[in-house]
Amino acid sequence: MPVALVTGANRGLGLELTRQLLESGYTVHATYRTSKGGLADLHHPELHLASMDVRMPEDIASVLQQIKTGLDLVVNNAGVSDGRWANIEEIDFEKVTEVMDINAVAPVRVTQQALPLLDQNGGGTVVMLSSLMASIADCQSGKSYAYRASKTALNMFTVAMKKELTDRNISLLIVHPGWVETDMGGPKAPVKADESVRGILERIEEQTVAMSGRFVEYTGRTLPW
Ligand SMILES: NC(=O)c1ccc[n+]([C@@H]2O[C@H](COP(=O)([O-])OP(=O)(O)OC[C@H]3O[C@@H](n4cnc5c(N)ncnc54)[C@H](OP(=O)(O)O)[C@@H]3O)[C@@H](O)[C@H]2O)c1
Repeated sequence: MPVALVTGANRGLGLELTRQLLESGYTVHATYRTSKGGLADLHHPELHLASMDVRMPEDIASVLQQIKTGLDLVVNNAGVSDGRWANIEEIDFEKVTEVMDINAVAPVRVTQQALPLLDQNGGGTVVMLSSLMASIADCQSGKSYAYRASKTALNMFTVAMKKELTDRNISLLIVHPGWVETDMGGPKAPVKADESVRGILERIEEQTVAMSGRFVEYTGRTLPW
């Protein structure tokens, strides 16, 4: 039975990822920052809950220490939006630092600490929940400064890891989930979480080490950097 770790799993895409991974036969270590949220209603023998603020190295270490089986899949899902400041004068730099830490640095921190567990199972897949807003080529409307920059940095961290991790049989998948109806995506979003996650699971299923570092939408469409 494959074993997965999902961050930010108490609501939104993380919760749906947990639900569908369990349905597909994974053992899931689902982590939440403070509140269990929707995880409290998911009753499954292969579901393990643990609290983890992805900014805190000691939280990550203590969760990973409890996983004795090794890992086959790490889904770096936890993320935050920014204030979408109306203009450049309004950028709040404390918030910029927080967004960069959670969206760009924390997934690297989690991945680094998960490597021994991936090695234990002979490799695996690491998924980064990125965004089309990371795309420099697609950035027409501007703004959302910190969110865009954080996801672009995440993409580069991921591509930069590719060579070293390929040697360890670990494949990296950078995925844009679509504009999804969650707290972050809002009620006008055209894609439902279950549809997005079905697509993400298909992308995980087809992922090979040769595909490592690709940047795709949940549908499989390749995205421009
Ligand atoms: N929805 C979209 O349209 C969309 C589009 C492109 C990319 N994405 C990306 O997809 C991912 C999931 O988004 P979503 O729409 O599901 O967002 P969401 O509904 O706002 O949920 C975000 C999740 O991240 C968790 N989180 C935030 N900061 C954390 C921290 N420091 N430590 C641990 N967990 C933390 C939240 O936990 P709390 O409940 O504790 O806050 C929550 O579980 C994000 O990376 C997002 O950037 C979403």
